[in-house]
Amino acid sequence: MVYAAFRSVGSYIPKNILTNEDLEKIVDTSDEWITKRTGIKTRYIADKEESTSDLGLKAAKVAIERARINENDLDMIICATISPDFFCMPSTACMIGKKLGVSNIPSFDISAACSGFIYALAMAKSFIESNMAKNILIVGAEKLSAIVDYSDRTTCVLFGDGAGAAIISATEKKEEAIIDVNISADGKYHDYLITPGCGTNNPCSEEAIKEHACFMKMKGNETFKVAVKTLTNDVIDILKKNGIKSENIDHFIPHQANYRILNAVANALKLKDEQVVMTVSKYGNTSSASIPMAMSDLYEQNRLKKGDLMLLDAFGGGFTWGSAIVPFSPFN
Ligand code: ACO
Repeated sequence: MVYAAFRSVGSYIPKNILTNEDLEKIVDTSDEWITKRTGIKTRYIADKEESTSDLGLKAAKVAIERARINENDLDMIICATISPDFFCMPSTACMIGKKLGVSNIPSFDISAACSGFIYALAMAKSFIESNMAKNILIVGAEKLSAIVDYSDRTTCVLFGDGAGAAIISATEKKEEAIIDVNISADGKYHDYLITPGCGTNNPCSEEAIKEHACFMKMKGNETFKVAVKTLTNDVIDILKKNGIKSENIDHFIPHQANYRILNAVANALKLKDEQVVMTVSKYGNTSSASIPMAMSDLYEQNRLKKGDLMLLDAFGGGFTWGSAIVPFSPFN
C-alpha cells in the first residue's frame, strides 16, 4: 500500500510592507478599525515586476531543499491561485516548472480561492495513493495586490501577497501518511466573493475596467457568518470521522482571513492558544498561500517537529472549503 506523506514546507514573503497607517492615506479607514475587525496590522506586497510564479518559485525552492530532493525528482506540479500570471493560459504551475528548469511532468493550476492549498493537498494525496506520482510540488501563490481595488476600503485592507509550497511524497510507512483530507463547495454563494468582470460572463471591456469589475468584491459580513459556521462544522466532522480529539492536535493551522473567525473556530474546538497558529496580523489574507506561509513560519521558529499532528482548515470564494489532518513527516 502506498501512502502520501507531507515532507516539507517553504514560503516566500515579498519585501514591501504595507501597514494600516499606509492604508489610512489611501482610503477612509483607520488602524483602529482594521485591527479591531480583522486583527491585521501589516501585509506584504510584491514588486511590480514580480509575478505570482516568481513568488511561487521562491517558496518552491525552499520546500524542495527542505525535503532533501531536487527539482528532477518532481513528477507533478499543482499550483493553487486566484491571481495567475496569465488570464486563461499558460498556467502558473507551467511557469513555475519553467523557472525551476523542470519539463515533461504534468503541471496545472486549480482555482478554489482560499481553500486552494487544501484542494491541492487532496489532489496530491489522490495521485500518490493511486500510484500516478511519487513527489508532488504543491504551491499556493498569490499576487492579490494585482486584483485588489485600492479605492475599495471594504477589501483593500484585507489582502496581501505571498507564497507557500510543500512536497508531498509516496511512503510505505502508514505512520507518515496524511490521515484525511476533506474538500467541498457550494456555488449558490458564488456572488458573495467574486471578481465579476474580465471572464466570459462579463468579458474585458472599457466599461468593465471603468466599473472596477476585474477586482475582487466581497459581501464581507455575509461571508463572515457562513465562514464561521462552515469552518467549525468542517473541523468537528473531520476530527470525529477519524476518532481524533482536539487536544491531540499539535497545531491548528487555519486559513488566515480574520482573527475573529479563527478565534470562533478555535473556541468551538476548545483549543489552547499554543495549539493555534495565527499569522493574520503580519501577512493579512494571502488566500491559497496563507496556510503554507503560516506552517513555514512555525517550521522556521523550530516549533514544527517530525510527527506533529496538524489540523488544517480553509474557507473561500465559491464558496469552497476544506480541512485536513496531517502528520508532519520530513525524511529525518
Ligand atoms: N475601514 C473603516 N470602516 C470600514 C472598512 C474599513 N476598511 N470597511 C468597512 N467599513 C465599514 C462599513 O462600511 C460598515 O459601515 P456602516 O455600518 O456605516 O455601513 C462598517 O464598517 C461595518 O462593516 P461590515 O462589513 O459589517 O464589517 P465586519 O465586522 O463584517 O468586518 C470584514 C468586515 C473584516 C470583511 C469581515 O466581514 C470578514 O472578515 N469577512 C469574512 C472574510 C472571509 O473570510 N473571506 C473568505 C476568504 S477570502 C477569499 O477566498 C479570497
